Amino acid sequence: MVKIAVVGSSSMDLVVTSSIRPGAGETVLGESFRTVPGGKGANQAVAAARLGAEVYMIGCVGDDHYGKEIIENFRRNAVHTTYVEPVTEMESGTAHIILAEGDNSIVVVKGANDYVTPDYIKKAQSVIQDADLVMIQQEIPVETVEYVSEMCESLQVPMLLNPAPARPLPQSIIDRAAFITPNEHEAAVLFNGMSQVEALKKYPNKVLITEGKAGVRYFNGTEEVVVSSFPVEAVDTTGAGDTFNAAFAVAVAEGNSLEESLRFANRAASLSVTKFGAQGGMPMRKEVEDQL
Ligand code: RIB
Repeated sequence: MVKIAVVGSSSMDLVVTSSIRPGAGETVLGESFRTVPGGKGANQAVAAARLGAEVYMIGCVGDDHYGKEIIENFRRNAVHTTYVEPVTEMESGTAHIILAEGDNSIVVVKGANDYVTPDYIKKAQSVIQDADLVMIQQEIPVETVEYVSEMCESLQVPMLLNPAPARPLPQSIIDRAAFITPNEHEAAVLFNGMSQVEALKKYPNKVLITEGKAGVRYFNGTEEVVVSSFPVEAVDTTGAGDTFNAAFAVAVAEGNSLEESLRFANRAASLSVTKFGAQGGMPMRKEVEDQL
């Protein structure tokens, strides 16, 4: 069983479904409202655990009702929570999601996720040291991403950076990451001034650009490779990127080739969109293997 440490956000998703997406200054009547666990870090941790990895989450929640529910959800999914701490007098992170017209719009309020600081990470160094791979995203402070990248480099643990949501990053973080998985928009922000082809060629077998239904694109040192996605009827695409990242992390940590790992990741992501909620459709290992 491979060991994965996830450094990142844990939030509660407040999800409204509506047939119409409201424009600025407009009010529309929606159809439903639900709260479900989310946050990119938590989603990736849960997805990796369902796919058979031993997962250690490193993050913070608020000392509120959502915080308790988030921790309980980790436990139900067999994610280790020794380093998921409630922050006193702070609210848990929340994501305010509108599902409308076949896609989502999300506003994230980071809350306790801002307390995932370099000092906090120091306490969890042993977990990072023992991991086969570390996953990190961008709903936590940039100084933490930088600090974790330094720690991973010195401990020689590969780091998978999912640069979502988009923000410019110091070159040092890009250099230290073993894999970077932007979508097209995130790639444009991250590699500002470079075309997509130039960015892929500059970082062979490292930058893996996800293009939704069009699959994943990377440069293998000789040529560009596209690993196709699997067509499905999507119910809710929230969390598809997280499932993709987790599945890729598990497969690559298990020693599979880049192309095999991306195929596994695409298959897992395609299953994840067939049910409601970021984690609702995240598949178990067997479901992915049966489909492949
Ligand atoms: O990647 C999907 C996640 O992004 C949602 O669960 C939401 O919490 C937002 O952070």
